[in-house]
Amino acid sequence: MIDIGFLERDGFEEIISVIDRETGLDAYIAIHSTKLGPSLGGLRIWDYDTPEKHLKDCKRLAEGMTYKNSLAGLDLGGGKAVINLNGQKKTPEMLQAFGEALNTLNGQYITAEDVGSTLDDMLEIKKTTAHVSTVSGAGDPSPATAFGVLVAMQAATEYYYNMEKINTVAIQGLGAVGMALAEMLYQKGVRLWVADIDESKTEYASKTFGASVVDTKDIHTVEVDVFAPCALGAILNAETIPELGAQIVCGSANNQLENPATDSKLFRVGSNTRYVYDRSIYIPDFLANAGGVINCAREFGDVATDFHVASMILDMKRRVYDCLSDAEDFKLSTHDAAMELAIERLK
Ligand code: NAI
Repeated sequence: MIDIGFLERDGFEEIISVIDRETGLDAYIAIHSTKLGPSLGGLRIWDYDTPEKHLKDCKRLAEGMTYKNSLAGLDLGGGKAVINLNGQKKTPEMLQAFGEALNTLNGQYITAEDVGSTLDDMLEIKKTTAHVSTVSGAGDPSPATAFGVLVAMQAATEYYYNMEKINTVAIQGLGAVGMALAEMLYQKGVRLWVADIDESKTEYASKTFGASVVDTKDIHTVEVDVFAPCALGAILNAETIPELGAQIVCGSANNQLENPATDSKLFRVGSNTRYVYDRSIYIPDFLANAGGVINCAREFGDVATDFHVASMILDMKRRVYDCLSDAEDFKLSTHDAAMELAIERLK
């Protein structure tokens, strides 16, 4: 039997714990806000040492989705689910039990793919609930995410440097998003530098796109127009930011700033001399990587067709411009300016 516990809300609309001894399911689901519509956020499947870390991650990610969905212009709120594997392997039964638990939230939380969960997992979950995206309609969100990153980086280079064309990009991580981004940039004649811990991926990019392969420790230092972090979080910090070789940082990885409050201020925040001039410009991750969630919203009627998805992703250009001009006008970090824009819409 699935055991659902209702936790203290702590500023959230609902937080539940889901335990199913039979399948080993151990999950938290947090709904941060449904002000703009039902909450949408992926299912993370991970191993945590303690229940505290498990819950903390779920809450942090759920809140982040509220701002991301708002900034993406979606009529959707923010929520997240996180399964702690506790050293076990995920099974179809575990995922089906998770789907059953979603039904208790009456559609106020819609799940989707995230780190550790795949399209096949979503199909498994779909067997027991309707509150799941990326199945049938929307498909793999990664190309849409890559397209959004491309739009955001083009907007940033245009805004700051009046560049009609990006010439050089360094990509960290050639996974589902990074490889799609590499292909899109290659088709536009952009010269690429790439790094991945998986040599088969860098080899493929080298052969197919003529990319130069760089050590994973050095990819952020390559002197290029844009550095695109598409692998891990927390890669922008007090040590790496001063070493950046790119004029603009714009990638898909979630939570790129190790300490958002302080690290965001290490970047250049304006285009004129009142601000730190010799630093790169950071395009906030939750602004640049929204293409995937816009694509997921497709299935829930909020975005009617693939053309609407593309149109909304192209609209990310305007939001990048708004973020960068607000950062200048109000002397904010780009991270804070993007947060303000997201909060504004929630009001
Ligand atoms: P993925 O798991 O397919 O790819 C990650 C890649 O990074 C892998 O090729 C891996 O080998 C590589 N990698 C791991 N550690 C590395 C290191 N130290 N240096 C260089 N490469 C390293 O993940 P995916 O889906 O491509 O996502 C990439 C990032 O974008 C993640 O942070 C994810 O949370 C974020 N994201 C993805 C979305 C999507 O639509 N897939 C949507 C929004 C955010």
